[in-house]
Parts: sequence; structure tokens; C-alpha cells
Amino acid sequence: MLRAVARKDADARILHHFATDPRRVERMGVEAAGLYLDLSKQAWSGEGFEAALDLARTCDVEGRRAALFAGEAVNAAEGRAVLHPALRAADDADFRALGEPVSAEVAATRRAMAAYATDVGSGAATGGTKQPFTAIVHIGIGGSDLGPRLLWDALRPLDPTIDLRFVANIDPRDMGEALSGLDPETTLVVVVSKTFTTQETLANADLARAWLAESLSPRRMALHLIGVTAAPDKAEAWGCGRTFGFRDWVGGRYSLWSAVSLSVAVALGWDVFERLLDGARAMDDHFLEADLEKNAPVLLALAQVYNVEGRDRHARTVAPYAHGLRRLPAFLQQLEMESNGKSVKRDGAPVDTATGPVVFGEPGTNGQHAFFQQIHQGPDVVPAEFIVVCHTSQEAMDAREGDAPLWSNALAQAQALMVGKTAAQARDSMVAAGLDPAEADRLAPHRAFPGDRPSTTILMDALTPEALGALLALYEHKTFVEGVIWDINSFDQWGVELGKVLARALLDDVERGEPSAGLDPSTAELMKRLMV
Ligand code: F6P
Repeated sequence: MLRAVARKDADARILHHFATDPRRVERMGVEAAGLYLDLSKQAWSGEGFEAALDLARTCDVEGRRAALFAGEAVNAAEGRAVLHPALRAADDADFRALGEPVSAEVAATRRAMAAYATDVGSGAATGGTKQPFTAIVHIGIGGSDLGPRLLWDALRPLDPTIDLRFVANIDPRDMGEALSGLDPETTLVVVVSKTFTTQETLANADLARAWLAESLSPRRMALHLIGVTAAPDKAEAWGCGRTFGFRDWVGGRYSLWSAVSLSVAVALGWDVFERLLDGARAMDDHFLEADLEKNAPVLLALAQVYNVEGRDRHARTVAPYAHGLRRLPAFLQQLEMESNGKSVKRDGAPVDTATGPVVFGEPGTNGQHAFFQQIHQGPDVVPAEFIVVCHTSQEAMDAREGDAPLWSNALAQAQALMVGKTAAQARDSMVAAGLDPAEADRLAPHRAFPGDRPSTTILMDALTPEALGALLALYEHKTFVEGVIWDINSFDQWGVELGKVLARALLDDVERGEPSAGLDPSTAELMKRLMV
């Protein structure tokens, strides 16, 4: 049904839909937890919008949403609940994972994090030589890195009291750069790994431990090694002096609300982290309570589903117009592509539609001067998402100073994508500017814009912790709703496993000094060249 309506929609331009429905902006605009979403520049007609909403009803988005919040085994392949909303709920909430109460444990971990953050900040918690910590090295990868890194970029003061650095890559240069200029006696190392088995993270943790060991005895060093993990035994056996936990019902890419962000909570201050949780909780409440037709995560998901299923548009570009959100595209790549890059349904049968798109992006305005050429004039239509921040800091908001040069660029891009410019218009403007008409004819096709390219715009008043929390929770729930509609499990990630296993086997080959028999000829040749 959606596909049939979307096919029909393709006969009309987006601008035409505004002309035929004076209430379009109102119908396709939604306020949620301090954010405003404008989905009226999407390509759907009013009928297409309704067909997408019908699909959400048919797929029982509301029932599946209730199952998620009730802590049922939503991640059926692994028999796990999926309860990241419990991490930002009030202390007296009563979340249950597969029937087990979890909220008291969440609150206890939060209290421990708050106390530790306060003690490090005040200097009450010191290193092995009794000096306060002035730097933190956060080691983790994937979900144990991208969320905290984004939070820090977005919310950090320009001149922070704690120098927080992140290391993810197994390339030793990453660690080398992070440790450069730091003093082991005043540096805290936070090793973040849900499983505490991830090759990259353990290799980097070993490097950091060796660096600390050059200056500190093992007993003193333990004060500098904090583990954040769902496998505390492994972290302690490795040498962490203290661990902060979270449970298997927190997926890695949904974990930034947990102790995974300990280093950020320490460096930003606990009150800032709490405000982030408050913002996410407001979005949870909205997602639970708003009707589907005014439900921001649902509508954002439906726009995506419409583009993929209805219009065969298999990529989406995300352009956050705020320097602090420059890592948002990378965060969303993991959130969306690891969650919904699937080819089988929950029951194991092959999917009958396309699923999650390729997600990519750069902060505005930088992306405009790089790949936006193709978004405007390339033959493939790539839907765009603009995240527009009215005031890029709390200070600017307090002074009522908007960042107009920044956000006017975002609005102009969305407008240009939708409105376009015909060859005749291009020709006329060149002739009006004094160009020879024959030359204008020659250039017009190059200067024409097809337009009719869809986008969504998300407005934030300011890049506050609350608004950021709401934005990230919005994307989490949007990802979930898409998974419900495609009937896939958004919470496993078997697709990353094969490469890990093969990398280990290749390392064994390297240690043996030769490619193993049976290795494909291409890989064997490449390996021989690399081993020289
Ligand atoms: O390889 C993918 C992945 O499993 C992600 O899902 C996860 O966020 C990342 O690795 C890191 O895993 P861990 O926190 O267990 O080190």
C-alpha cells in the first residue's frame, strides 16, 4: 500500500503538496521534548503521509513500544530485554528486565557515579601519589566510544578543568597521540567495554597500563585504572582498581546513558550529565504518550521508511549545523546501521523490503563545500536531515543572540534542495547579469538544479544537555520504530563477528610466519606483501 501511494506521489513535486494543502506545515510539524521537527519538505503527499501512519498501525508500533518499555525479550535472538530508557528514568521508577526489577540497581550505579565524579572534581579522589587527576584517557570503541565522544564535543567547556581524551583505534598512533604531554601521576584511565573482550580496547588498555607502570607501582596504579563493563570479573582480573557496571539489557550503541559515560560525567560535572538524562527522559515520555500522528520518533522513522520502501532511496545524509554536533553522523552510523543493517526478519526469513539506509554526513557548513554538490545535482536522490541550532551555546541563548549566519545556511540548503532552479531560470539570471545569451544557453544545463529533493529539519533552541539528551533519545526510538516496521531485530549485531574471527586467524598466521593453507589467493598475496 505504502509503495503504491508513494509511486503515485512521484508524479507531483513537493512544492505542489504545499499548494494543495495549506495545513501541510502544521500537519507535518511536531514539537517534542523541546525540539521541533519539520517533515513537510519530505516527498510524501498527504495520502502518502497517511499511508505511512497506517503502516505503523498495522505493524503494531504501539504494542511493540509497550513491550520494549515493559522489559520483554525484545532482542529475541539473544533472549534479552532492551531497556536503555531505564537508565534515564527517575530513581523511583520500576523498570523490569524479563520480570527482574532493575531500577534500584540503576539508581545505585548513578549514585556511585555521581559520588566518584564529585570526588574527582573536588580532588578528594586522587591518584597513587595523592595528586588530583587533571586528565582522563577514555578507552573504548563503537558504542563504548562514539556516544561519550559526542557528548564531550557537544557540551565541553572551551577551557575544561579536566583534559579528556579518547582512544578507540588499535593503531598505536591513536594512543600515542592521546598520551602525548600527559603525566601518569595525574591521569585517570577509564577502560570501557561491555564485554571486556574487544581486541582493540584490550590492546589499548594494555598500552595505557604499561605507560602508567613506568611511573607507578601496581598498588598505586590500581587507583588510576577504572573499568566500565558488564563483565566486572574480567576487568578486575585485568587490573582495574574499581569498576562501574551495566547490564546485558543495555546495547552498546544505546549505552551512553550508563556508566559508559563516566569519564564525560566526571569531566563535565554530574549536574550536566543529569540534565542530559532529563532531556532523554522527556523524549521517552513523549514517545510513550503522543499519538502516532504527532509522535516525533514515529514520524521521523516513517519518513525514512517511506524514502527507502516507497521511493528506493537507500542513503540519507545528516547535517548537524553546530560544530559541537560534528560527531553526530558517526554516532548515527553505528546506531542506525548496526541496528537496522539486516537482511533477515525476526523469525529468520529473508526481508521483503530494503532496510536501513547508508547514513553519512558532516557538520554544516563544512559538508556544503564537500559532497553537497552531489546531493543537489547528482542523479541519485539522497534525502537530507538538517539539525539546526538556534543558539549554539547556553551563553548565546541567555544573550538572545541567534547564530543566524549558521542556521540561515541550513535553511537555504533545505530550500534549494526542494525548490531547485530550472535551466530557463538559470539562463534568465545569467542574461540579466549581462552574459551573452548564447553563452547563457551553453551554461544553463550546468547551472540548473532539479529540486524536489526531500529533507527533514530538526530545530533545537540551544545545544543544552537537555536538548542533546532529547535529540539522541529521538534517534534511538526512531531506529527502534523502523526495526518494528521492517520486522527485524534492531538489537543484535552478528554482522560484525565474522571479521573479528578472521582477524584473529590471520594474526595466528602472522605469528606462524605464513598464510595458512586454504586461504584465498588474494588475501594470501596481500598478507605475504604485508609480512615482508
Ligand atoms: O563490534 C561491534 C561491537 O560489538 C559494538 O556493538 C560495540 O558497541 C563495540 O563492539 C564495543 O564492544 P564492547 O563495549 O564490548 O567493547
